[in-house]
Amino acid sequence: MIIQLCGLSGAGKSTIAKNVQRKAAAYGTPIEIIDGDIYRESLCRDLGFSKEDRCENIRRLGFVASRLSNYGIICIISAINPYEAIRQELSANYADVKTVFIDCAVDKLIARDTKGLYKRALLPDGHPDKLNNFTGINDPFEIPSQPDLHLRTDEQSLTVCTNLFLQFINQSLALQQAQYASAASN
Ligand code: ADX
Repeated sequence: MIIQLCGLSGAGKSTIAKNVQRKAAAYGTPIEIIDGDIYRESLCRDLGFSKEDRCENIRRLGFVASRLSNYGIICIISAINPYEAIRQELSANYADVKTVFIDCAVDKLIARDTKGLYKRALLPDGHPDKLNNFTGINDPFEIPSQPDLHLRTDEQSLTVCTNLFLQFINQSLALQQAQYASAASN
């Protein structure tokens, strides 16, 4: 199974993914987190934040996820992943892709601003520190049309979000196993 997250910077994607990974490991379910921030330092080092580069980023993360998921490892792609077309491309190209929207209102993210990036994106035009093409401020984020799961980190605690996510994975695994069993008996 490949779970592609999408959501703005600071919404809680990596934190929730890590919590889910830790809790699932306790009952023997292997999860690999394929994190945009980390892959942008290696496999995706050449990519910036244009629409083309962001789509290429997701394509590469999706490819890595597809290789690992062949071995039964659940892969969580943790990236902003802002474009509907590339999310749908991933779902069309690989088996068993789920989309999980980690949602948080922009005003809450501006208030949190753990990395100081929102502050930089909101600087006046022409300021030397201004961050352009910053998702949610001066670059688009397309709301996913039909996410398989929608979590709101501004309305639900991280613990609640983590538990809902785990429940979702367990239900998806149970469904997958029922489908295998039914295919095997035919
Ligand atoms: S994606 O759009 O291609 O999916 P990805 O998740 O890999 O993005 O990288 C986002 C991370 O890069 C953010 O968490 C943030 O730390 C950093 N970043 C730097 N510049 C930008 C920008 N212009 N827009 C969004 N994130 C940025």
